[in-house]
Amino acid sequence: MKFRYIALLCLSLLACKQEKKAPETKKKEVQIVVRPADVHSFSKPKEAVVTHLDLSIKVDFDNKIITGLAIWDITANKKTDNIIFDSNGLLIDSVKVDDSLAVFVLGHEKKYMGRPLEITISPQAKKVAIWYKTSPEAEALQWLSPQQTTDKKHPFLYTQSEAILARTWIPCQDSPAIRFTYDATVTVPSNLLAVMSATNPTHKNPEGHYTFSQKNRISSYLMALAVGDLEYRSLGKNTGVYAEKSMIKKCAWEFESLPKMMTTAEQLYGPYQWGRYDLLVLPASFPFGGMENPELTFATPTIVAGDRSLVTLVAHELAHSWSGNLVTNASWNDMWLNEGFTVYFERRIMEAMEGKDYADMLAVLGFQELQLTLTDLGPTNPDTKLKLNLKDRNPDDATGDVAYEKGFCLLKTIEEAVGRAKFDAFLNQYFKRHAFKTINSEEFIDYYYKELIKNDKVLAEKIGIEKWVFEPGLPANCPKFTSIRFNNVDSVLNQWINGKAAKALPFKKWSSHELLHFVRHLPNTLSIDQMKELDKVFGFTKTGNSEVLTAWLTLAINNHYVDAYPSLNNFLTHVGRRRFLLPLYKAMASTEEGKKMAEDIYLKARPNYHFVSQQSIDELLK
Ligand code: BES
Ligand code: ZN
Repeated sequence: MKFRYIALLCLSLLACKQEKKAPETKKKEVQIVVRPADVHSFSKPKEAVVTHLDLSIKVDFDNKIITGLAIWDITANKKTDNIIFDSNGLLIDSVKVDDSLAVFVLGHEKKYMGRPLEITISPQAKKVAIWYKTSPEAEALQWLSPQQTTDKKHPFLYTQSEAILARTWIPCQDSPAIRFTYDATVTVPSNLLAVMSATNPTHKNPEGHYTFSQKNRISSYLMALAVGDLEYRSLGKNTGVYAEKSMIKKCAWEFESLPKMMTTAEQLYGPYQWGRYDLLVLPASFPFGGMENPELTFATPTIVAGDRSLVTLVAHELAHSWSGNLVTNASWNDMWLNEGFTVYFERRIMEAMEGKDYADMLAVLGFQELQLTLTDLGPTNPDTKLKLNLKDRNPDDATGDVAYEKGFCLLKTIEEAVGRAKFDAFLNQYFKRHAFKTINSEEFIDYYYKELIKNDKVLAEKIGIEKWVFEPGLPANCPKFTSIRFNNVDSVLNQWINGKAAKALPFKKWSSHELLHFVRHLPNTLSIDQMKELDKVFGFTKTGNSEVLTAWLTLAINNHYVDAYPSLNNFLTHVGRRRFLLPLYKAMASTEEGKKMAEDIYLKARPNYHFVSQQSIDELLK
């Protein structure tokens, strides 16, 4: 059965009247597929919707405030008399519709959602201008003191709009289903550079005055701004990297493969549609690994490992230029359409660049994480469905592995069932057909039946897409992922467990993924002597690879290996990436004494974390 939102329009009143007069007339049943409203936005795009933004803002570091004017081009329905924007913590000074002052109302505050901003318009209205200020607590904005940056000389500001934080710095219709183009003028202190999710400057402007233009239609969660003492290095014809001065050389080396990655991605799923692709390496408090802001991916400095071992993350963010930025999930309930596709695409890029053995390791590591999450959530937990129901919840709470890794597993299942060549052709067509559009799970499934499955009932049955998307847990037809290189790691690990000295183990040629697999599969309980031996030979406590370090420090906490605690302390007070913080705080919080340590560290470290990380750890330690 195909799941879809079926609205049965009985045309009831009319039909009833007609029935009385002419009982022989049959009731007319019309099936129409209606996209449900986005539960995370107050806007009513069917009434009035934005199409373009002209943003003028001034960034005030002293008061931690952005003062702005957002002029929106709008299209209104003939019968409407208002337009609704999302806002959260914004102070609205005044509003004009076309050239006249307009009446506006800020509605009741709702948790996570903020307040609807309802503006009276006439159906012919073309432009809405909103003068506003952000609050110093705006959740999308992280204001860093010079001390919190890498170079420690100048303040820094960056935004994180996904999932529903854009409304904390711009009054907008904050739903991924609504797309618009934008132009922006940004004024910042004269010694700082401003960059956005748009075409960017590469040099500072002496007046601190910058202009931007994003000609492609994007969703609000892709609005992004960073301001800091940044430098730029080109890496190829349309790629480069921005970072603080002391990092720029290291970054340029780390991401040298970016032009090749771009060519590889284009060969897989069609031309890159965004002009430039640059990376911005942020200070360490950035709460994510990466964020796919159009033309300028924001990234954590923890991927600058010094050995190019974490470039897969760049492949992921680059892949979002297709899955996510070009074809966008219509709501956060359909997030797997952004993230699951991107994980699949990321691994295809890595396979093309580094070989199948390499991509197999990524799939196995991802699958291990998925299994842990599934066990944690339980087999019938609705959060293990691909299609989520996040009504009355913050979408940020459901950003676990399910959308990513279960999404990946489904796409692998389809790939294996139809064959790679056919699946690639389908995906190329999918990106082309839905470019600059948004899509939900039900619409995707319709498209999949029409273009890929056609009338092949056996194939449809074999894949069982509805079970994958609408039911919890992992269907039995999920592929088995194996890795030859990890099999080798397992046998080396067994040798150590059976008494072979660590220094005699053949690990020198291992990649960080093999090291990670090794650490993750060490016995949970180890003696201090064993921890010491491993550390001496592998140097885990000092590793520059933050994935390996997190796994090792978790083990150190569980085994009270105090030699690693200074490193743990240092890591937690400098790094703000939630994916690393959570397992470490969780491991500490599992014992009475560890919880005390966690609270002490958190007290010191919390001001360095971004709101999204703070929120998750507050919850964990409460
Ligand atoms: N778009 C996400 C980040 C995100 C998701 C922010 C949901 C807010 C809500 C980004 O592309 C991402 O997935 N980042 C990952 C890295 C990736 C390699 C799995 C991360 O930050 O860990
Ligand atoms: Zn992603």
